[in-house]
Amino acid sequence: MLLLALLLVAGNSAWLQIFRVSEREPRAAQIAQQVASVVNLTRSALITANPDKRFDLLRDLSEQEGIQVYAHAPNEPVEPLPDRPFVRLLIAELQRRLGDDTQIVHSTGAVDSIWISFDIDDIEYWVRLPRERIERAEQLRWIGWGLLVLLLSVAGAYLIVSRIDRPLRDLTRAAAAIGRGQTPDPVPETGPSEIRTLSHAFNQMSADLKRLDEDRALLLAGVSHDLRTPLARIRLELEMIGDKASPGQMDGMLQDIADIDAVINQFLDFARVSGEQSATTECDLDELVNSVVERYQRPGQSVTARCGGVPRLQLKPLAIQRLLTNLIDNALRHGSPTVEIETALIDQRVRLSVLDRGPGIPPADAERMLQPFTRLNAARSTSGSGLGLAIVDRIAKLHRGSVQLLPRDGGGLDARVELPLT
Ligand SMILES: Nc1ncnc2c1ncn2[C@@H]1O[C@H](COP(=O)(O)OP(=O)(O)O)[C@@H](O)[C@H]1O
Ligand SMILES: [Mg+2]
Repeated sequence: MLLLALLLVAGNSAWLQIFRVSEREPRAAQIAQQVASVVNLTRSALITANPDKRFDLLRDLSEQEGIQVYAHAPNEPVEPLPDRPFVRLLIAELQRRLGDDTQIVHSTGAVDSIWISFDIDDIEYWVRLPRERIERAEQLRWIGWGLLVLLLSVAGAYLIVSRIDRPLRDLTRAAAAIGRGQTPDPVPETGPSEIRTLSHAFNQMSADLKRLDEDRALLLAGVSHDLRTPLARIRLELEMIGDKASPGQMDGMLQDIADIDAVINQFLDFARVSGEQSATTECDLDELVNSVVERYQRPGQSVTARCGGVPRLQLKPLAIQRLLTNLIDNALRHGSPTVEIETALIDQRVRLSVLDRGPGIPPADAERMLQPFTRLNAARSTSGSGLGLAIVDRIAKLHRGSVQLLPRDGGGLDARVELPLT
């Protein structure tokens, strides 16, 4: 806006300057002509006037025209006229019309006036004219006009900028919302045509994204749901024909079914998080952590919590529980049987860390693991969907938070979720 205002002011000033320069010469010529006429007429009148009437003539000139004639040089403090382009032009023009030896001075006595000399029979006379007859004081007026130009320029710049700036700000906000995995309201399609086109395209994209997300969630939910019933049937049938298979085969098949079931559950979770609309409530995160940890108390594994007494937060409790179980499941499955969970308040953000002593995730792969269906080494273990961390990431973003998979000091993984306080 400042740049635009500056350009407008500069343009206006240049224009003003051009105007002043171009009107200076004709104005000086015109004024010089008038002043020369006054001097010449006064001179002629003095020469031709009857000597008896000369005094009356001088009085009339003084009273009616403000023109005073003296037979002597100025008897009040004088100074040369200011050295300005307009004044130089005026003096040159006057001397051209009245003769080169014409003197012109400026007196600063009681009345601001201009004295001009002329000769009659080699005797020097002076005419005294009020200054405003020649040049009106105009400096202050320019300041007023200048201020007006400045004001109009700033207002104009504000108008132009606001027409572009507001829609752009709306777009930025909406784009940030999409980045957080939310669906923003459509941005208004107003402003200059380029911005309108951009806003329209953005709204279109936002709507497409939303539909795509809904379609995917619907597909996942539908397929997963439909797979569960036959899967349950297979398990039942398998148990009924159990005696015909060897115990090893039987356990293997049951384990496979359990794995498929877990994957289906992840699909359903992923679909659920995409369309997550459950209410946020004020929760105690530490309480949530403790209740989840309780469910993991089993022989052969140790899941412990170290709670830092964090303030209450606006959370979706079910989603946060899902986030926690996904991280703990990962730590137990890919990491080590000992898992620690920590909560702390750091720099106005609540930090939730799930720590294990397993092989960890190389920093180069950490970001990629948050994408759906990505796994570190797909061949290493057959079960798993690759959706667990994607679900964690989505849940964190739902809460305007973030997820980081960091190497833990002393080996292992530090899966760190940070949530803002408000
Ligand atoms: N605690 C962990 N320690 C080591 N690797 C991990 C850990 N958690 C996740 N990973 C790696 O990240 C991959 C993606 O995890 P996730 O999205 O939960 O999918 P899944 O667990 O179904 O394989 C995992 O396959 C695993 O290779
Ligand atoms: Mg997992």
